[in-house]
Amino acid sequence: MISAARLVFLGPPGSGKGTQSRRMQELFGIPALSSGDTLRGEVARGSDVGRRARRYMESGGLVPDEVITQVMMAGIDALPSGSGFILDGFPRTAPQADALSSGLVGGRGELNAVIDFLLDDAEIVRRIVPRRVCEKCGQMYNVEFLPPRVADVCDRCGGKLIRRPDDREDVVRTRIATYRAQTAPLIAYYEQRGLLRKVSAAAGAGTVESAVSEIIQSIGTQG
Ligand code: AP5
Repeated sequence: MISAARLVFLGPPGSGKGTQSRRMQELFGIPALSSGDTLRGEVARGSDVGRRARRYMESGGLVPDEVITQVMMAGIDALPSGSGFILDGFPRTAPQADALSSGLVGGRGELNAVIDFLLDDAEIVRRIVPRRVCEKCGQMYNVEFLPPRVADVCDRCGGKLIRRPDDREDVVRTRIATYRAQTAPLIAYYEQRGLLRKVSAAAGAGTVESAVSEIIQSIGTQG
């Protein structure tokens, strides 16, 4: 059953992991768990985790492995038994990947696939720096090429549009460097385990959606 698929979405900032994980949740009923959204929720609540995470997030670095691993494994554990998941933004380091793999053993079962979204740095900056997000419903806009009808107001729910503090260009460039240094090694990690599937994220969202759907459907029909 496709809704039981266990997937990781890997890729640099702004490569569309969040856009596509939400879309796959709608299409196939696979719950999407975003590490970034989860951490932003903790920061907004002012929890201990949020207080520890905030400075790393705002500077473009990674939150310590033990903090994010605990939060994401708790999110997986809270899903109904037999449910699949899409992990958007987790794991991001080898220790996180090892912890995920050990945490899944004997419980939900191994991952079915890791989808790597490929995008070059210039396009990452073009997509993220002008991004605005609705603080109420999470809908995304881009003031350069996908503006809202009324400035700073969400078309969908009327909520206020905000700029993520880590979407400033200098922080985006640090996030890209962090990704290349600390997360890109996971590409080889998952390739060696036969799980890696690559998708070009440079095309329009509809084309990327078709490519991701095809991969998920091919997993769903195996065994
Ligand atoms: P996180 O929120 O995960 O940020 P990110 O990985 O940098 O990813 P983004 O949310 O910026 O981009 P995305 O790939 O989801 O793309 P999106 O769909 O939004 O993490 C934030 C921070 O939290 C990290 O920097 C770190 O500090 C911390 N953190 C999170 N996980 C962690 C972990 N595991 N370990 C340690 N720390 C962790 O799309 C981007 C834009 O492009 C949008 O405007 C969208 O509308 C547009 N777009 C999408 N697809 C297309 C397309 N095909 N064509 C044109 N535009 C498109």
